[in-house]
Amino acid sequence: SILEMEVEQINKGTYEHYMQKEIHEQPESLKTTMRGRLIRGGFHKAKSVLLGGLKDHLKTIRRSRRIVFIGCGTSYNAALAARPILEELSGVPVTLEIASDLLDRQGPIYREDTAVFVSQSGETADTLHALQYALENGALCVGITNTVGSAIARNTHCGIHINAGCEIGVASTKAYTSQIVVMAMMALAIGDDTISSLSRREAIIDGLFDLPNKVKEVLKLDQEMKDLAKQLMAEQSLLVFGRGYNYATALEGALKVKEVALMHSEGILAGEMKHGPLALVDENLSILVIATHDACFSKQQSVIQQLHARKGRLIVMCSKGEASLVCPSVSVRVIEVPQVEDCLQPVINIIPLQLLSYHLTVLRGYNVDQPRNLAKSVTTQ
Ligand code: G6P
Repeated sequence: SILEMEVEQINKGTYEHYMQKEIHEQPESLKTTMRGRLIRGGFHKAKSVLLGGLKDHLKTIRRSRRIVFIGCGTSYNAALAARPILEELSGVPVTLEIASDLLDRQGPIYREDTAVFVSQSGETADTLHALQYALENGALCVGITNTVGSAIARNTHCGIHINAGCEIGVASTKAYTSQIVVMAMMALAIGDDTISSLSRREAIIDGLFDLPNKVKEVLKLDQEMKDLAKQLMAEQSLLVFGRGYNYATALEGALKVKEVALMHSEGILAGEMKHGPLALVDENLSILVIATHDACFSKQQSVIQQLHARKGRLIVMCSKGEASLVCPSVSVRVIEVPQVEDCLQPVINIIPLQLLSYHLTVLRGYNVDQPRNLAKSVTTQ
């Protein structure tokens, strides 16, 4: 029963912390998120996705002037990770808003907009107020939450449940990867009426079917990330460089490191390197560069060269088998991850960083599941 499932989830089992359990649970939580929603297709029938809570609104969404994603913290980062594929498959302009900032500005939201509210808890005060604001402005409001019956789930016109299972650690992990998958499925559903993207969409659906296996594979990096955490545990700061699909990975990886390991960390858009961050780089600065293989790969290779020339202490995340393509010297530490479809790569790439922040926290002696000053659900503004 659902109740038994929830009790099971609340049990830590053999794990020491909820965050650890929730990181390792991701092959299963992703399966639950996709369950019943991917259609395998067959002879004369294309592969597709079925999102029950959205299907009656797809036409309206396709006709909207803009799709605007609204969230806070990790939920905002998940929307950032999914934006490129949403833009590509929907053909509709996609913008992002941090809920508090939209409210501070009283930014424009129109009747012709589709406003999508992304929230693990479905109760975050800023996101909920932004929903109120968007409803008043007449937008179509879509909810993406992990909590059936939450305020955001109840007050939106339609939506998609994340179905990642109850998340207890204050730092969001499994909800993040499931949110990205939900938004990728949303992009597939919106783009479903476009013949020209059929093969692209089928490749992504194949990638989704295989994703839990790839997540299992990347979780095997646990010990390697523990070793890396030992190397980094006394650092003042860690910069994380990413771009394209993995700009979000840089922001989210840095957010994990600061919120649980209490270490200063900054996610940096690699394309902005020369507009400031490069001034920080010397032999004392640790920098993690995400350079898995996608359309930005050669640009990332050149970023690595330049950071190396300034003597930064580099750690590079690359696709399996490509270490020699990203390593300017033996002093560079490499994290090799399985390669998947570009728009799903953020799901894989965040996992070593979740593991790293977990181990950093334990080694530094801080509270993993309840970082000081933070709350799982921020219900006040
Ligand atoms: C808090 C949590 C974060 C979460 C954010 C947004 O800051 O500690 O893990 O990402 O709220 O929460 P939501 O429930 O709206 O996704």
